Amino acid sequence: MERSLELLLALIATMTIIHLVHAQDQRGFISLDCGLPESEPSSYIESVTGLNFSSDATFIQSGETGTIQTYLKISLKPYRTLRYFREGTRNCYDIPVEKRRIYLIKAWFIYGNYDGLDIRPKFDMYLGPNLWATVDMQKLFNDPTSEEMLHNSTSDSLQICLVKSGTTTPLISSLELRPLGRDSYSTKSLIDPKSGSLKLLERIYYTNSGNEIRYPDDAYDRQWTPHSQLWLPHISTTSDVSDGGSYKLPKAVRQNAATPTNASEPLTIEWTSENPNDQYYMYEHLAEIQDLQANETREFAVFLNGHSFSDPVTPEKLEIITMASHTPRTCEGGKCSLQLTRTWRSTLPPLLNAYEIYRVIQFTQSETNEKDVVAIKSIKHAYGLNIINWQGDPCVPQHFMWDGLNCSSTDISIPPIITSLNLSSIGLSGTIAAAIQNLEQLENLDLSNNNLTGELPEFLGNIMFINLSENNLNGSIPAALQRKDVILHGNPRLFHPGTSCSKSPSKKFPVAMVACVATVVILVAALVLFLVFRKKKVSTVDDPQLGQRMSLINKRFTYSEVIKMTNNFQGALGEGGFGRVYRGTLNDSEHVAVKVCNESSPQFFKQFKAEVDILLRAHHKYLVNLVGYCDEGNHLALVYEFVPNGDLKEHLSGKQGRPIINWGMRLKIAMEVSQGLEYLHDGCKPSMIHRDVKTANILLCEDFQAKIADFGLSRSSPVAGETHVLTVVAGTPGYLDPEYHSTSRLSKKSDVYSFGILLLEMITNKPVIDVDGTREMSGIAQWVRLELERGEITKIMDPNLYVDYNSPSVWNALTLAISCTDPSSANRPPMSDVVTKLKACLASENLSGLSEFC
Ligand SMILES: *[C@@H]1O[C@H](CO)[C@@H](O)[C@H](O)[C@H]1NC(C)=O
Ligand SMILES: *[C@@H]1O[C@H](CO)[C@@H](O)[C@H](O)[C@H]1NC(C)=O
Ligand SMILES: *[C@@H]1O[C@H](CO)[C@@H](O)[C@H](O)[C@H]1NC(C)=O
Ligand SMILES: *[C@@H]1O[C@H](CO)[C@@H](O)[C@H](O)[C@H]1NC(C)=O
Ligand SMILES: *[C@@H]1O[C@H](CO)[C@@H](O)[C@H](O)[C@H]1NC(C)=O
Ligand SMILES: *[C@@H]1O[C@H](CO)[C@@H](O)[C@H](O)[C@H]1NC(C)=O
Ligand SMILES: *[C@@H]1O[C@H](CO)[C@@H](O)[C@H](O)[C@H]1NC(C)=O
Ligand SMILES: *[C@@H]1O[C@H](CO)[C@@H](O)[C@H](O)[C@H]1NC(C)=O
Ligand SMILES: *[C@@H]1O[C@H](CO)[C@@H](O)[C@H](O)[C@H]1NC(C)=O
Repeated sequence: MERSLELLLALIATMTIIHLVHAQDQRGFISLDCGLPESEPSSYIESVTGLNFSSDATFIQSGETGTIQTYLKISLKPYRTLRYFREGTRNCYDIPVEKRRIYLIKAWFIYGNYDGLDIRPKFDMYLGPNLWATVDMQKLFNDPTSEEMLHNSTSDSLQICLVKSGTTTPLISSLELRPLGRDSYSTKSLIDPKSGSLKLLERIYYTNSGNEIRYPDDAYDRQWTPHSQLWLPHISTTSDVSDGGSYKLPKAVRQNAATPTNASEPLTIEWTSENPNDQYYMYEHLAEIQDLQANETREFAVFLNGHSFSDPVTPEKLEIITMASHTPRTCEGGKCSLQLTRTWRSTLPPLLNAYEIYRVIQFTQSETNEKDVVAIKSIKHAYGLNIINWQGDPCVPQHFMWDGLNCSSTDISIPPIITSLNLSSIGLSGTIAAAIQNLEQLENLDLSNNNLTGELPEFLGNIMFINLSENNLNGSIPAALQRKDVILHGNPRLFHPGTSCSKSPSKKFPVAMVACVATVVILVAALVLFLVFRKKKVSTVDDPQLGQRMSLINKRFTYSEVIKMTNNFQGALGEGGFGRVYRGTLNDSEHVAVKVCNESSPQFFKQFKAEVDILLRAHHKYLVNLVGYCDEGNHLALVYEFVPNGDLKEHLSGKQGRPIINWGMRLKIAMEVSQGLEYLHDGCKPSMIHRDVKTANILLCEDFQAKIADFGLSRSSPVAGETHVLTVVAGTPGYLDPEYHSTSRLSKKSDVYSFGILLLEMITNKPVIDVDGTREMSGIAQWVRLELERGEITKIMDPNLYVDYNSPSVWNALTLAISCTDPSSANRPPMSDVVTKLKACLASENLSGLSEFC
């Protein structure tokens, strides 16, 4: 929903005359006119309420539209049209909402003989996998009818489903969602505090003359029914009555009340409880609106079926107080009787302005794992699937499970997870959807007999059984997929890697990882030899075995070749961790970057060795790739792939004429860097610590793919049993883990800290250390924390992000950065968590910007 000021202004403009005084913010409101004909504008302002109704068409894919017969004098336009569902058993609206927010959800149903058959329907309404209500329009006076509830949303979308329960056709006229204030209603149930929702039974206010109240008089668009009873004389005031709590009661509710004539009589509200276990929440809103004499007092207590409900209460003068139980109550004997009874001290009878009664609905069935829901929706979207029962919750209730899925069937309190996906023979085209990798528990994937093209993505390696036969896939088959439970026949353009002169070693993850682990044994040995020879000043050229091993992955160059490729060291690109970096060309075509170290100090040599060590072992698409090296006499050089698009620092500051990148791109880069680091930490054995993660060390390809560079300070991380290594503290000031700095104990979490600083730099574009003293805190992490505590959000954000920072993903990234830069390494997340969170951020950023689940 639109949340902008613009909306508010537009709203005020159109409602100036009638509603100027009342104009209320409709922020977060979702008002759907179901079945609004396509010939009409997709949204309009309803003239009586000023509510901005819009068509429901974007929230549902199925159903047909109808119009009620005109003899029914339904005054509000949204209720004159409807959507009905002849096809399918379950049809669902999918509505984006704010997670963990309590919503008032109201649905209107008006049959109005729209189909001329005069058969009023009876059907069920579900919220996600749980039954909300049975809509029985066949009962007398049940057309129109409505259902209302308060619901605490557990995810960022709500599935509101109409389900056939007999032969009649479900229909809906409008769907209205209103986010409520944070400290007002409670929806917790006794049995399961997580899963309560409240169904409205009654919402009454006492008046002699008033009308039904809703928006704009009620800011939350609650509907208040006027009520008067002969034995409950009505009192009212014209004075202002303030709204004490966050219930935002309408003015007419605040200024009117009822009180029994006979002060000794209680004020009684009664209803029947259909089921003895039903639990209720009752809210009593009251204010002293009479002028009391000095010798008068009003004090009363509230009882439910004779059980005291609260301490005695004295209404506040001209100020609403709301009495509510903190836990829901049951009624014995099927009858509920709520009584306000004056205490012995009181000279005046009890008084009540308004009350609400809700019944707790138990939503016991857990919704499908949220990540899986996002993933399967994204797969549905990627293939443009229009399968009639792919609506509502994918896995539950079980008899509505989407065709082609199978889910883990655990007990109802655990969110089901998708374990099997079968989209065989349904005419899929395009590539294998990347979102499949987000179905983390997928064991069985059948995409056979479609028209899929492109290469086999690496993530398929994690799935146990795969049938991709009879498609049009191409490229080489990754090692992880050369198994007998992966069926690939009928794809003539697929080949085994050995059978074609394909590219140099794959940079892709699983293969690289295999290579990493497999070669490490050889290479560690090779390096030991290499170093031994090096120290003895024995040219390694003389060692054919070593040369051979090194050449497994990388090429060895002579010094004269280095001179040639750098055109005698023209065109310096910059200064690396040790030595200067030059631009170079290999075979007149391939661009390379050459890091040359002419000094032979032990320190430089150590860094050179470290870098060779790391880069020989680690191959990953987000790490800069080593093409070769030179080691001749005193001349040491490393030849890397050339990464043409500068470094991240330049793209944040706009220096060197680099374009400043937007938030989505920053997030993608952060995610790639985190994956590169995760690979170093967890993908290599022994794992590695980069030790110099900073924006200047993140190089960017033309398509802004990130490459982590400069491994001169990197170290192998501790072996099993130890959590840290002791080293001389090294790294770049500002990025340096304070714990490492004070203890010299290096751990993977030091990289996590530096990564957090990098993330903060990407969000703020401020120096990591303030050298000019313009900030109260010189360290960026401390400064951001300080400003956040003060609520100075705008001060933190990079002004270059403009409106982008409305996006929840910015906040999620900020939260992540704060946790990564926790002074205590134990509190920082491991890199693998960082990757997961950033992936979720990125997914939410790409989906809608509405998600909150990083
Ligand atoms: C009503 O809401 C829609 C979005 O649902 C928006 O595009 C439209 O501008 C709004 N109309 C007015 C008059 O505010
Ligand atoms: C909604 O539920 C979440 C747990 O899912 C809980 O933390 C939150 O406090 C609830 N919100 C309200 C307003 O009760
Ligand atoms: C008021 O109520 C009390 C208790 O129910 C009753 O005894 C008394 O007669 C009533 N007074 C009048 C005036 O009706
Ligand atoms: C309170 O005082 C007034 C006079 O000021 C008197 O008329 C009335 O009866 C008194 N009420 C009570 C309950 O004592
Ligand atoms: C779904 O999985 C269950 C076990 O988890 C299995 O019994 C059932 O046969 C599966 N259904 C299909 C359609 O594969
Ligand atoms: C997938 O569905 C097709 C047809 O619906 C069926 O023939 C095939 O056996 C299914 N595949 C698996 C792995 O269950
Ligand atoms: C794989 O899919 C093809 C085409 O749908 C089918 O003929 C074959 O039986 C499937 N193989 C297995 C093992 O399920
Ligand atoms: C499969 O896709 C290719 C190109 O995308 C297209 O030319 C071909 O007609 C498609 N085949 C089928 C059976 O849909
Ligand atoms: C696979 O086919 C796509 C086009 O369908 C092409 O872009 C890609 O380069 C091919 N990959 C290989 C390894 O042949």
